[in-house]
Amino acid sequence: MKQIHTWLVRGKTMSIPIIQGGMGIGVSLGRLAGSVMKEGGMGVISAAQPGYNEPDFYKDPVSANLRALKKEIAKARLISEGHGLLGINLMVAGEKYDIYATEIAKMDIDAIISGAGLPLSLPQYTEGFDGAIIPIVSSGKAAKLLCKRYLSSYQRLPDALVIEGPMAGGHLGFTWDQVNRREFPSLESIFEDVKRELNTLGIDIPVFVAGGIYTSSDIATFMRLGASGVQMGTRFIATEECDASDAFKQTLIDAKEEDIDFVLSPSGYPGRAVKTQFTKTLKELGKIKVKRCVNCLKPCNPADTVYCITEALIEAVKGNISDGLVFSGTNGYRVHSIVKVKELIKELLSEMEGFR
Ligand SMILES: Cc1cc2nc3c(=O)[nH]c(=O)nc-3n(C[C@H](O)[C@H](O)[C@H](O)COP(=O)(O)O)c2cc1C
Repeated sequence: MKQIHTWLVRGKTMSIPIIQGGMGIGVSLGRLAGSVMKEGGMGVISAAQPGYNEPDFYKDPVSANLRALKKEIAKARLISEGHGLLGINLMVAGEKYDIYATEIAKMDIDAIISGAGLPLSLPQYTEGFDGAIIPIVSSGKAAKLLCKRYLSSYQRLPDALVIEGPMAGGHLGFTWDQVNRREFPSLESIFEDVKRELNTLGIDIPVFVAGGIYTSSDIATFMRLGASGVQMGTRFIATEECDASDAFKQTLIDAKEEDIDFVLSPSGYPGRAVKTQFTKTLKELGKIKVKRCVNCLKPCNPADTVYCITEALIEAVKGNISDGLVFSGTNGYRVHSIVKVKELIKELLSEMEGFR
């Protein structure tokens, strides 16, 4: 497994082993991403409906989202002062994935990180893109399938992988059957599984781990096992620079361990979120009527979906928590205060001597 101390992409350098995970809707935009980049990490803007504040969002979501992405990219670049790498997170389960991928690949970004489904056709949509292509996988089997497909169809490999385990926030790469049985492989065992598959194929690419990474010693533990670094989401929510509303951040700070639970998602994947009035109503009624649709997810049919995830995530990020969905990793309850990204990263690097 490739150990990287600094990672050079498009002439720019990532000098710390931390990717801030893409968080939609609107939780990781240019401000958060740029602040992480400024400290030498990879900041990631979520491509999940970033145009939700644009005036034409409900009329022409694709134009609104692409326009918003360009604004957020410019903001991140400005804040970063030329440091770090900039990624965009694009979900495979999203509608018009091919159009978004093609357009995003033309933007001033250093990486596309893509999960919530296997990004098997991403190299085809992003031909000519000179940044890194980084799929998110949750098993050795998926890593093997992706690498073999990239080699046979595109004569290339992914530039890196993110392995996301069962403690992550947002959509999870596991089945409802696994959720119901509470039977998940640990992040460590998935990591070993991926390592084995890559070794068998003779593939040496950077691998980042995600899901439940909380402390500097968590990062050091995985780097000792051979990871190139980590992707972290939940901890970056409780930062001053996170693009979500104060009420969203406060919901995480107020959450106790038992308040963070699995939630149905119209994507078909299980999600993990903080219990709110919204999730309670959903549990009671089994379904919440959709008011309007921006055609966001491929597997969702607005006529019979359980609820509109775009509406619920927009309500949450704006601060209307009782009608909203607040995604969080299992460790969300460990967050007690809001800090600056600079302070958080300093803390996260405190036990990392020798790895940087
Ligand atoms: C609020 C929130 C929103 C998220 N949205 C996305 C998303 O749009 N796309 C995606 O691939 N992952 C998403 N994730 C997952 C994160 O990028 C990251 O991989 C994960 O949260 C890592 O686990 P951690 O939160 O325990 O650090 C989201 C996570 C959270 C907490």
